[in-house]
Amino acid sequence: MPSQEALSAQVGAVYTTSTGAPVAEPYAAQRVGLTGPLLLQDFHHIDLLAHFDRERIPERVVHAKGSGAHGVIKVTHDITDLTVASLFSKVGNEAPLTIRFSTVGGESGSADTARDPRGFAIKIKTDEGNLDWVFNNTPVFFIRDPAKFPHFIHTQKRDPQTHLKDADMFWDYLSQNPESIHQVMILFSDRGTPDGYYMHGYSGHTFKFVNKDGKFHYVQIHLRREGGAKSLDNDTAQRLAGENPDYATEQLFTEIEAGKFPTWNVFVQTMTAEQAESFRYNILDLTKVWPHKEFPLRPVGQIILNKNVQNYFAEIEQAAFSPSHLVPGIEPSADPVLQSRLFSYPDTHRHRLGVNYGQLPVNAPLAPVSNFQRDGAMAFNNQGFRPNYQSSLAPLQYKRKAYEDVKHEIWLGDANVDLSYVTELDFEQPRALYEKVFSDTDREHLIYNLSVHLGNVKSPIVKARQLSVFAAVSKDLGDRLAKAINHPSVEPLAVKPATEAIRYKLKAA
Ligand code: HEM
Repeated sequence: MPSQEALSAQVGAVYTTSTGAPVAEPYAAQRVGLTGPLLLQDFHHIDLLAHFDRERIPERVVHAKGSGAHGVIKVTHDITDLTVASLFSKVGNEAPLTIRFSTVGGESGSADTARDPRGFAIKIKTDEGNLDWVFNNTPVFFIRDPAKFPHFIHTQKRDPQTHLKDADMFWDYLSQNPESIHQVMILFSDRGTPDGYYMHGYSGHTFKFVNKDGKFHYVQIHLRREGGAKSLDNDTAQRLAGENPDYATEQLFTEIEAGKFPTWNVFVQTMTAEQAESFRYNILDLTKVWPHKEFPLRPVGQIILNKNVQNYFAEIEQAAFSPSHLVPGIEPSADPVLQSRLFSYPDTHRHRLGVNYGQLPVNAPLAPVSNFQRDGAMAFNNQGFRPNYQSSLAPLQYKRKAYEDVKHEIWLGDANVDLSYVTELDFEQPRALYEKVFSDTDREHLIYNLSVHLGNVKSPIVKARQLSVFAAVSKDLGDRLAKAINHPSVEPLAVKPATEAIRYKLKAA
């Protein structure tokens, strides 16, 4: 429901054409006589239909179903030793933001409660430009090689012939790319079906925070939902998908409208370059987490969603989030998946929203834009009479970054040569999740949730191969799952020892 304020602003509005001319009757079309053909001169009627014909823009190629709101980020702790970003220059600083949550694989009308990671995208409007955090609700991802992304996503979508979602495609991909197992374990636990947006958010990728001395730290960002994360069990999520496909969208809107503002506490995990060198895992490998015991969460601030949108399409559908929208003091690491994302998002925005997507009100920064980009479709902030070239008559000022960038990842990059090379290192964290983090109930639900999906696979090869991946995580898991889908027990996938990992080999060489 629109707010009272919004409704009363509409009362008394005069009905007009799109050019603002008043029109007496919205339904009437001009025609010859009472029952004759319609007239081409009727701008009102033609404009009405022509605009309707063009209402749809491409939906997002992934994360098409979503909901969003506006809010604020407040800085509660000093992190000036980590970054020069002006947002974090003072405790008490605040900046407005827009957030969009989403599922990944379904179309724009699909169910909110699907088993899927959730997107967690935030556009923070700082006084030094937009800072976008384009996160998920899981700390790891399926791939560490960006070339696999389109393949992987295609297997989560519809079969080219049947136009159906297909369990064989789904598991064929995952069983051939076992570096996905950590994310698969999380996805098929009840965390894969969060209750609305009662969930945490994670950068997943390593970023770099750079301070005024030019020193940088590797950083992972965590957003922890106040009141904790909540999940739905498989059967409740499936029931809701039928009964109320917009369950999460409704919950978010209703809670904000009722003044129950969803809140997240912002934390960072930090690592120095030296720590990164001796860390067991590659910090540019998106399939791994940084243990909290070794790298504790450090508080930074709070995000509060306190305002519903007035218009979903303008304020959420047209929002263009990108991990490349960064501010001085926050930089990308050399994580290959992140590097590819830096390109992919603005590229898809130009396709989805047009070349001047950045000028749409939801995307326009609060900080003034002055540069040499001009014209193109729908340019409505075309920078007035300011010269469109580097002019000596009206020069722009050029502000250097307050630090020197240091390229540390060169050696780490070496360790990332073969992104499909799977060793025992890839199974340690999923095993700890299964054996140490999950409760007995979590384990039972994991096996049930997996059996519901993997049980639909027709190909015996795919089924056995994926069972062998689970058995490599834990023989107990492999055997219990095999039993649950009436399959003979399988041997664990043969995995090279951790010492065979490329970074260990390179270190030894
Ligand atoms: C190579 C890897 C990836 C590629 C090529 C990729 C590409 C894309 C594309 C093209 C979109 C649609 C954007 C739009 O239309 O505005 C999208 C949406 C999104 N992606 Fe990715 N993605 C990748 C990995 C990831 C990862 C690892 C995360 C999280 C850590 C992530 C989080 C999101 C989110 C949250 C959205 C929705 C943004 C919104 O609400 O508008 N993606 N991605």
